[in-house]
Amino acid sequence: MLDFLSTATDGGSVNPWVPLAYLVAGVFFILALRGLSSPSTSRTGNRFGMIGMLIAVVTTLVTHDIANIVEIGIAIFVGGAFGLVVARRIAMTQMPELVAAFHSLVGLAAVLVGWAAYLNPGAFGLLTADGGIGAVSKVEMGLGIAIGAITFSGSVIAFAKLSGKMSGSPILLPGRHIINLGTLAAIIVLTALFAMAAPSETLPLIVAMTVAAFIIGFLLIIPIGGADMPVVVSMLNSYSGWAAAAMGFTLGNSAMIITGALVGSSGAILSYIMCRAMNRSFISVIAGGFGADASAAGGGGGEQRPYKTGSAEDAAFMLEQAEKVIIIPGYGMAVAQAQHALREMCDLLEEQGVEVKFAIHPVAGRMPGHMNVLLAEASVDYDKVFELEDINSEFAQADVAFIIGANDVVNPAAKTDKSSPIYGMPVFDVDKAKQVFFIKRSMGGVGYAGVDNDVFYMDQTVMLLSDAKKMVEGIVKALD
Ligand code: TAP
Repeated sequence: MLDFLSTATDGGSVNPWVPLAYLVAGVFFILALRGLSSPSTSRTGNRFGMIGMLIAVVTTLVTHDIANIVEIGIAIFVGGAFGLVVARRIAMTQMPELVAAFHSLVGLAAVLVGWAAYLNPGAFGLLTADGGIGAVSKVEMGLGIAIGAITFSGSVIAFAKLSGKMSGSPILLPGRHIINLGTLAAIIVLTALFAMAAPSETLPLIVAMTVAAFIIGFLLIIPIGGADMPVVVSMLNSYSGWAAAAMGFTLGNSAMIITGALVGSSGAILSYIMCRAMNRSFISVIAGGFGADASAAGGGGGEQRPYKTGSAEDAAFMLEQAEKVIIIPGYGMAVAQAQHALREMCDLLEEQGVEVKFAIHPVAGRMPGHMNVLLAEASVDYDKVFELEDINSEFAQADVAFIIGANDVVNPAAKTDKSSPIYGMPVFDVDKAKQVFFIKRSMGGVGYAGVDNDVFYMDQTVMLLSDAKKMVEGIVKALD
């Protein structure tokens, strides 16, 4: 029945239906990326991505000589079931570490495919007349394996740091830049030697190159501190795409080339956007060391400074009197799952004629779009949600800046203290608001960068020390 699709290659010529089906899959992936660029269209974007992947997988299965379809079926079933369980169990706050873990699998897959092609080139159509593998194919193979191995070990470290299984502080080896450059140079030289070597001499070269790539992935990520992890995760996402694209060239598979290039370039663009949001250069992130001296920059301890505290009733009274309230959510709102109570509070205030807006920092929370996802889950209207550059000038007219579980993104040290690890990151001008409410659990707790925050001690600031959900529920009760 599927004779017209039968095999992808027939005496060297490619079945014309295959590139066409892969092209259609590629168009679905592009539509998926477009949909994912806004919370309101992200579900549709996800569906497009799933359809594209289905087309790519089915095309590959029905047009290639599959040695054992049962084994592949079992692998898809086990992997799919595992993915389903993980996706259902994972908390929103664990999403960045999950993404890092998934990238490590993409990297490992690229290494395994590269090695499979090296060990059995005939099955991949890579054998040349002299019984070896062509130099160009070996370069592509080497690139795929090297980028895949770097992605794997780098993502494992990112996962360990984000999940708290390893300290988030930068680990700075003496002479690390020289070690890293030396290892990178060794990988390039080994790949070149591998490409030129006779078939009988290639094994030690590809083994050494793979080991060096695993090591460099580890070395590149250990010096990078917790606050730079979002950029690292997106950068590893980009690497995993390039690894897949390199493998696509080796296997002559246009779907892998298109998908790899899309993932590689979108990851690179996201890394660039995040670096800009933190006012950090990409090179300084990769060079690492950010946040190594965070404790020295005044984290938590130090001398006691006076601050005011208030209750839910105090906050409700002041909020009711306000004309304009700007809410700044952060990581603590995600931890407390306070978004639903917050939406109720917002509804009650609007019923009383108060204008309420949400201000979202590009790196608030622990992953890109973290706050947008939570607010969307609580059905907050998208037109009340504003990006940093669109709302920052409005704090001067706001009666209340309501900070809920955010900290680094409102820390004025980013503007004034050159010794602070967050210096240069754009932050909300909450000090310009007439009144500031600051919800966090204790004065001892610090934000991700581990630094003290002058906003706690401002004259117009009232600290609401409690779990965010409990505090907002208290305010809702008082408003009701
Ligand atoms: P943070 O600076 O991390 O501050 C979180 C605040 O929430 C802390 O003040 C904490 O104080 C409070 N908190 C925690 N649990 C709470 C709860 N249950 N109830 C009430 N408050 C709670 O958050 P942010 O302002 O969103 O900044 C994000 C930081 O993370 C930036 O430095 C950013 O670079 C980094 N980062 C971002 C990402 C992405 S892509 N968004 C990924 C990784 C890292 P207490 O402990 O005293 O409660």
